[in-house]
Formats: sequence, C-alpha cells, structure tokens
Amino acid sequence: MAGLLRNSLLILAAVVGAVAHPTVEDAPMCPESCACRSDEDHVVGRRAKSVTCSGLGQVELLQVSQMSSATVEVLRMSNTSVRRVDFFAFRRLPGLVFLDLNSNVINEIAGTGKTLPKLRTLDLSGNNLHIIQPYTFRDFPQLTSLNLSGNGLHTISPSCFLVPTLRVLDLRHNRLSTLKPHFFAHTPNLREVYLAGNSLSRVPSFVFEHNLHVLDLSNNHVIRLEDSAFDGVNISGQLNLAQNSLRAMPNTALKRLGYVHKLVLDANSFRVLGTSSLVNVAVTSLSISNHRHLHLIHREAFVNLIDLEELLIRGNQALTYVHPKCLVNSPKLKILDLSNNNLVTLEQELIKNTPEVTELRVDNNNFICHCSLSWLQNVTQDEVFCSQINNGSSMAVTQLRSSRCPPYIIPLFPESYYETLSNNASFQCRALGAPNAKVNWFSKTGQRLCNGKCSGRLCVSDHTLTLQYLHKDDTGTYRCVARNEIGEDTRSVALHVRGVNVNLLPLSVTSTFVTLSWNMSSSVSSNYVLKYVEVVNRTLTPSGTSNPKSVTFSVGHKMHSYTIHGLKPGSTYSFSLCIQREEYTLVISTILVTTRRESFLLTLGIERNYLSVIVVSVVVGVVSTTCVAFCGLRCWRQRMKLQNESAQMGKSDSSYSARSILQSSSTHSNMAFITYINLTDETLLADQSTESDLLGFA
Ligand SMILES: *[C@@H]1O[C@H](CO)[C@@H](O)[C@H](O)[C@H]1NC(C)=O
Ligand SMILES: *[C@@H]1O[C@H](CO)[C@@H](O)[C@H](O)[C@H]1NC(C)=O
Ligand SMILES: *[C@@H]1O[C@H](CO)[C@@H](O)[C@H](O)[C@H]1NC(C)=O
Ligand SMILES: *[C@@H]1O[C@H](CO)[C@@H](O)[C@H](O)[C@H]1NC(C)=O
Ligand SMILES: *[C@@H]1O[C@H](CO)[C@@H](O)[C@H](O)[C@H]1NC(C)=O
Ligand SMILES: *[C@@H]1O[C@H](CO)[C@@H](O)[C@H](O)[C@H]1NC(C)=O
Ligand SMILES: *[C@@H]1O[C@H](CO)[C@@H](O)[C@H](O)[C@H]1NC(C)=O
Ligand SMILES: *[C@@H]1O[C@H](CO)[C@@H](O)[C@H](O)[C@H]1NC(C)=O
Repeated sequence: MAGLLRNSLLILAAVVGAVAHPTVEDAPMCPESCACRSDEDHVVGRRAKSVTCSGLGQVELLQVSQMSSATVEVLRMSNTSVRRVDFFAFRRLPGLVFLDLNSNVINEIAGTGKTLPKLRTLDLSGNNLHIIQPYTFRDFPQLTSLNLSGNGLHTISPSCFLVPTLRVLDLRHNRLSTLKPHFFAHTPNLREVYLAGNSLSRVPSFVFEHNLHVLDLSNNHVIRLEDSAFDGVNISGQLNLAQNSLRAMPNTALKRLGYVHKLVLDANSFRVLGTSSLVNVAVTSLSISNHRHLHLIHREAFVNLIDLEELLIRGNQALTYVHPKCLVNSPKLKILDLSNNNLVTLEQELIKNTPEVTELRVDNNNFICHCSLSWLQNVTQDEVFCSQINNGSSMAVTQLRSSRCPPYIIPLFPESYYETLSNNASFQCRALGAPNAKVNWFSKTGQRLCNGKCSGRLCVSDHTLTLQYLHKDDTGTYRCVARNEIGEDTRSVALHVRGVNVNLLPLSVTSTFVTLSWNMSSSVSSNYVLKYVEVVNRTLTPSGTSNPKSVTFSVGHKMHSYTIHGLKPGSTYSFSLCIQREEYTLVISTILVTTRRESFLLTLGIERNYLSVIVVSVVVGVVSTTCVAFCGLRCWRQRMKLQNESAQMGKSDSSYSARSILQSSSTHSNMAFITYINLTDETLLADQSTESDLLGFA
C-alpha cells in the first residue's frame, strides 16, 4: 500500500518537476535509465521528442521525476513497478501524443483525458487490470487507440469507454466471458475490435452495432452466435471466428451481416458441412481451414455466395471428400485452395461449376490414382501426385495415361457402423470411373434398391442409402456396387443397431392399477408410448375365446413413470415402453406384471384408513375455513396461484403427476398407494432400494 502510494506520487512528482522548471526543458537532464531523443519516431511518423525508460526501480523513478520537458510527444515507461496511474498527473505534459505504459503492474486507473488533449495512443497492455469501472476512459479529445491486452480483465463496465474518437480497441488475452449489449455504444467510430484469447462462449445481439474494419473473436470458446449478432453490420476487413467451438455453421448470423470482406472460420468443431451450410452471405474471401474433424463437404454446401472471390479450404487433416457440386452460384470465384487436406479425389465437375477459377491448389492431398484424375494436371500449377490403389506407391498424375479405367468407390462410409434404435443412418456411395460407372445399392437380403426410390424405410437418392427409424432387425450388411464396361467395385457397410438401454419397473402393483417407472435415455428425444395387453394363458383358457386387445397411448417425453388404471384383478399383463416414429412403434423395454387378487385391498384394512382420512379432511377443512376468514381475499388468491403452479408442475414433473393422477382420479385405490410403502410382499418386483432410486430419477 505504501509502495503504491509512493509510486503514484513519484509519477506526480515527475510532472510537477516539469512544471517547476519549464525553461530548462532542453537541458540535458535525461535520467540515467532513460533515453531521451529528438529524432524520427516511428509511432508518430516524424521527428519528435521521446523519452523511453525501462527497468525502473524506486531510485531511478525518482530521477525520472527530475526530468523536465513540456514538448515531449512520446513517453514510454515499461517494466516499472508502478501500480496506479492518475491521468491528472500528466496535466503539464499537454503535448503527449503517445503514452506507452505497457508491462508494468498497474491495477488502478484514475483521472480523465482532459489533461492529455493531444493523446492519440494509450498502451496499457501487459498490466494487472482486472476490472474497468464506469467512466474510466473519458474526455480524451483525440484518443484513437487503446490497448488493454494481456491484463486479466474479467469485468468491463458497459459505460467505461466514453471516447467517441476511439478507432482501435485491443482487449486480446484477457479473461472476458460475456459481452453486454450496447458495450460499444459510446464509441461510434470504433473500427477495429480485438477480442481474441478471451473466454467468450456466445456472441449476443446488440453488441456490434456499427460498421467495423476488423472484428477479431478468434481463440475464444464461442459455441453460439445469436441470430442477430451482426445485424446489418458491414465489416470492410476481417471477421475472425477462428479457434472457437462452433459445431455448426452460424449461417443465420452471417447472412444478416451487411457484408464482410474476409471471413475466417478456421479451426472450429465442424464435422460435416451439409447442404446449405452457408447461403446468401456477402463475403469476398472465405477460409475454412485447419479443422481437425471436418471430413466431408456435401453437395450444395455453399449457395449464392455471389461476391466470393477466394475460398480457402486447406489443412483439414480429415477432409476426404468435397462434392463437385458443393458450390452453387459463386460466379466470381477465382482462387480455390484445397491443398493440404486428405482428399482422395477431385472430380472434374467441380471446375465446370466454377468457370472463373484461375487458381486451383490441390497439392498435398491423398489422391488415389485413377484415370478420372488426369484432368487435374491441366488446371493446376502444382505437381499432383497420387498413390496406387493396390500397392500405395506414389506417382505423378501426368503419368496416368489411359482414359478408360474400372470404377473405384470412394471410401465415404466406414466398414462397420453403429447407430441407436429409432435414429436414421445414411451412407453415400460415389464412384469414379471412365466411362462413368453405374452405382447400385443392395439391401442385406441382396435386393437391389433403385435410385430415387424407397422400399419401406430404405431409401436411395443421389446414390445415398438412408435407413429411417432404425429397427433392431435392420442390423446387417449393405452393399454398394459400381460397374462400368471395364470392371466393377464393391464396398459394404456392416450396420449394427444398438438397443436403448431403458429399464422398465413396476413401482406399485394392486388389483386394478399398476404404476410403472423407467429411466430415460438421453439418446432418445421423442415421445414415449406405453402399450399393454393382457396375456392369456392358453393352457388354462379354452381356445376359441377372442384375443384381448392391446392398448396404446402416449406418455410424453418428460415422463419417468405412469399409472395404468382399470386393470383386471389377478391377471397378467405385458407392458411395453416404445418410441413412436411416424407410423413405427419401436419397443425398447417390456415387462410382465400380474395384478393382485380382488381380496388384496380388504386384507390391508383399508376401512380403517378411510376413517383417518375423513378425520384429517375435517381438520384440514376447519383450518382452511379459518384461514379464509382471517386472510381474506389475498390469501385466497395466493392459494389460487399455488394451485395453478402445481397444475403446471404436474405436466412436466413426472413423479408429481403420477401422484396427482392417483390422488385426484382414483377412488379407494389411492389408499393402496398410501400404504404400498409398508408392503413387504416378496411378489412386488421393486424392492425398497430400487424404489428410492427410481424416485430419485423424477
Ligand atoms: C524488466 O526488468 C527485469 C528486472 O529489472 C529484467 O530482468 C527484465 O529483463 C526486464 N524486462 C524487459 C522487457 O525489459
Ligand atoms: C497491444 O499490445 C500488445 C502487447 O504489447 C501488442 O502485441 C499489440 O500489437 C498491441 N495492439 C495494438 C492494436 O497495437
Ligand atoms: C453496408 O453495405 C451495404 C452495401 O454496400 C449498404 O447498402 C449498407 O447501407 C451498408 N450498411 C451500413 C450500416 O452502412
Ligand atoms: C489436358 O490437356 C491436354 C493438352 O494440353 C489435352 O490433350 C487433354 O485432353 C486435357 N485433359 C483433360 C482431362 O482436359
Ligand atoms: C504398383 O502397382 C502398379 C500397377 O498397379 C505398378 O505399375 C507399380 O510398379 C507398382 N509399384 C510397386 C512399387 O510395386
Ligand atoms: C430421419 O429421417 C426422417 C425422414 O427423412 C426425418 O424426418 C427425421 O428428422 C430424421 N431423424 C433424425 C434423427 O435425423
Ligand atoms: C437404466 O437402468 C439400467 C439398470 O439399472 C441400466 O443398465 C441402464 O444403463 C439405465 N439406462 C439409462 C439410459 O440410464
Ligand atoms: C399357464 O398355467 C400353467 C398352469 O397353471 C402354468 O404351469 C404355466 O406356467 C402358465 N403359463 C404362463 C405363460 O403363465
């Protein structure tokens, strides 16, 4: 604390010193550890007086305070132990244009810019500022550049940058985790905002409201851009979203930009760029590079990027295939860089769709030698190599002499594939061949599947096989065969359909109703359906009686339990929990439950409970009547409100609703519910411990 005070006093003293001896400003009084110059200075761009001090300790700082010069334009003071800066201290240095206070230990800022009327650049980078209070930067008439990078800032008050002239704001490498709306409302001339290297996870709306030249949001943890994050904003330079955690292309937010010259989306978490990933974005240069997991770019991934001149898709180590029709309507595209990926092929159709391309880069890929690749050497300056299919040896594409060769199926799907029941699975089969190959899919039973048609849940379109709403018995091997007059190629996928691991348990069993409970699976996101049917024992029942009908009803997707009423005493029922996908009901779990004999309720002494409930109701009635009398209308209203709330809760909270169904809609059976916890009958399937586990799910 004392050191802090002394340090700030010393700065003050330096300034007071300058005031006290204004006439000796040109005297050779430069402190020992400072360099005072009057020559061309690169930050001002002309001849200027500058003072540069570094590595100051307490003693040397005192010497600086002796220095006096009122015409100094540049003051650099770094690597000192100064902790507090008061701009008021510089009030007698009105000529300062550039004030560099980087790499000190400043943790507090005071004063206003009134004392620094000519200051244009203020560098506070590499200090120890953690919070910036409201109104910290104000009344700087000419400040255009403020550098606060490398400070550990976690909180910045929305009204701390009251600097209308500010053009460049550097907040890189801090610890900011949120941006507040209207953050930059008082800096209408802001053109460059650097926010790289913070901890931002989303970009909200109403933060960036003015046109910008550079917006750098790279190296954060952004997973979401609000749809109107950049509404109508024009970015004449670069919008950098590299090294974030975007899993899908933020197309809506980007579409609503006015325009952006260069858009950088490198090193995010994209896996596939599907159809319509980027549509109608006004961008001139686009980079989607250095992704770890991006492996496929589908047909029509980029649509109507009519200003696009340069597309860089390079250094994506997993990218094996770019569909030749991935670009639709980019008439100005000149540079297409697909180098340093893992592409196995590139089809000539690509270049037919982008006629203006003058520079195509494809070096450093993993091309498979195939005669259909020979066009490549005609359109690129790079020397293209490929590896032989059978022995992997490398050769130049120019050596691919023949113009006819057998088909080759591009490995776009794995040899075995696991997927969960009720989801879809999709496999794209594309084949190279000259002349063109005919491609066909065959089902696991060997049936040929026609392109453009469905056979039940199996559909083939554009040579992509899709299995909808996977059933258990879809498990099997599906084959793609490509054939031309020279030969054929086959590629198969072994599909494994995983069950949904849900446990169905009876929570309580009486003679006429059963409460069932189950644990939910996060891999299933749809309504559950309960189905039950009475199981008739053929050995006991004479044949000829009609089969019992099964009952099916939806229980919603948030439910964990359900009570089924109106069952016959002493009968066995089969209950199934199912997923409904369109017309398909997929069973995920089944149990058999036998209801109790009719005499069950009587033996438990239900009558006695009737009495006690009547007594309790009377007492409750008296109490609530008294309450109404005392509390009046307000109390009544509150009760109404509570009831509303509980009614809503009943919809979402399953255990609550299961109970409320019991209490409101049943007659004597709710007594059984009240007493079931006391039952120790071994025929009850759920024991005490699983019961409490199950209640825990709710
Ligand atoms: C800062 O000062 C310390 C000790 O005085 C010295 O070791 C270090 O190299 C200096 N750093 C710079 C960037 O001048
Ligand atoms: C801010 O300071 C850091 C570290 O001193 C530097 O690397 C960066 O270029 C500066 N920013 C601007 C916009 O000048
Ligand atoms: C952005 O640029 C477009 C086209 O150049 C222009 O029409 C629009 O007015 C600009 N928007 C702003 C906010 O300046
Ligand atoms: C490549 O160019 C050569 C001559 O330059 C031409 O004979 C050949 O047909 C071209 N190949 C393709 C696939 O366009
Ligand atoms: C690899 O196979 C090709 C024919 O497919 C042959 O021409 C070439 O010599 C083979 N290379 C090696 C190293 O065996
Ligand atoms: C499966 O395919 C159907 C029909 O194409 C589609 O409606 C459904 O959304 C798909 N389900 C999933 C999980 O993708
Ligand atoms: C449901 O419970 C069973 C048995 O305790 C367990 O094996 C299964 O993994 C659970 N399922 C889910 C989706 O949690
Ligand atoms: C049907 O009843 C017989 C005789 O009681 C019994 O042995 C058999 O296990 C029952 N079968 C089923 C499926 O419940």
